[in-house]
Amino acid sequence: MVLLTLISFLFTAILYTAWKRYIKSGPVYKNRTSFAGKTVIITGGSSGLGKECAIALAKCDARVIIASRNINKGKNAMIEIRAITGSENIHFMKLDLSELDNVREFVDNFNKQESRLDILINCAGIISSERSKDGKRGLMFTCNVLGPFLLTNLLLPVLRKTGKISPVRIINVASDAYLVKDIDLLRLDPCFSRGMSSLSVLGHYAATKLMIIYINAELNRVLSGDSAVTTYALHPGTVESNLGENFVQNNRILRLLRYLVMKLLARSPFYCSQTVLYCCSEPGIEKYSGGYFSELRQTRLFPHAEKIGIGRKLWEELERMLQNG
Ligand SMILES: NC(=O)c1ccc[n+]([C@@H]2O[C@H](COP(=O)([O-])OP(=O)(O)OC[C@H]3O[C@@H](n4cnc5c(N)ncnc54)[C@H](OP(=O)(O)O)[C@@H]3O)[C@@H](O)[C@H]2O)c1
Repeated sequence: MVLLTLISFLFTAILYTAWKRYIKSGPVYKNRTSFAGKTVIITGGSSGLGKECAIALAKCDARVIIASRNINKGKNAMIEIRAITGSENIHFMKLDLSELDNVREFVDNFNKQESRLDILINCAGIISSERSKDGKRGLMFTCNVLGPFLLTNLLLPVLRKTGKISPVRIINVASDAYLVKDIDLLRLDPCFSRGMSSLSVLGHYAATKLMIIYINAELNRVLSGDSAVTTYALHPGTVESNLGENFVQNNRILRLLRYLVMKLLARSPFYCSQTVLYCCSEPGIEKYSGGYFSELRQTRLFPHAEKIGIGRKLWEELERMLQNG
């Protein structure tokens, strides 16, 4: 009996240690490059993963611009990060990726205020079944895909200009959720009706993450010849954050599932920020520009994320959407 108790105690201790070590935490990026004199935009820098990246980059002396939609939350994050890091070089600019005119306004303001952009981190993302304010598109598609696509394209001139002085990186936060969905080029933005199931909305979230991976690879082709500007998509890990909190509010089962995922599988934003920081500073990864990263290394994509021609068609379709307003 005593032996049995001892064995089960030992077994539980081993399981707990493995869970703590391999699930709840992960590799830590040790190389802390100085970003003094460099400017970084982090969309969604007001909470979760984006905020953690803002803290880490502020500690490395970067000029950090938090770009998110909620002004109070953004300013509070800025004040908190200044207090944590002791850096005054952290700023907030309002950016609502779901409103394309606001994206244009943001870039105009940025170009008036700033002369360089060394790193763009497209981190903001949501899970939602709502429509955008103008009712034309899904909020999730606009915030996760179309808005960041417009933002990146509008910022390309300043990124290229900065690239003439020192290397520039674009980081696109995707997700391994891409695995569960394929892209339907004819239905990039399924207009959400009230009857749409939660599962379909989650499926579309996964599709927006797959689109980010394709856009990242296509952007690399668009940039080819300009080795000073490189681009990386990544999976940060499952993050203990606010993602999906509003979405599950009215569904008890989803609320429970989300709670369990957060408690059992999610890592703190600190651990999840490590691959972002790796992509911001690791020397020599330029040769993988356009690629996908996770756990501090370049990772192979599943074949449905590397189909020839899809990236270009997606890119053209997004351009067409932007032209049509
Ligand atoms: N959580 C995960 O397990 C997980 C896993 C893989 C990938 N990711 C990805 O990681 C990224 C960060 O997510 P998170 O987990 O840190 O979530 P989060 O805590 O909910 O943070 C999301 C951020 O996006 C901003 N945002 C939302 N809508 C916006 C809009 N229309 N315009 C501008 N900013 C907007 C939010 O700002 P406001 O508060 O001002 O709205 C907030 O700062 C997302 O792209 C997500 O898809 C997350």
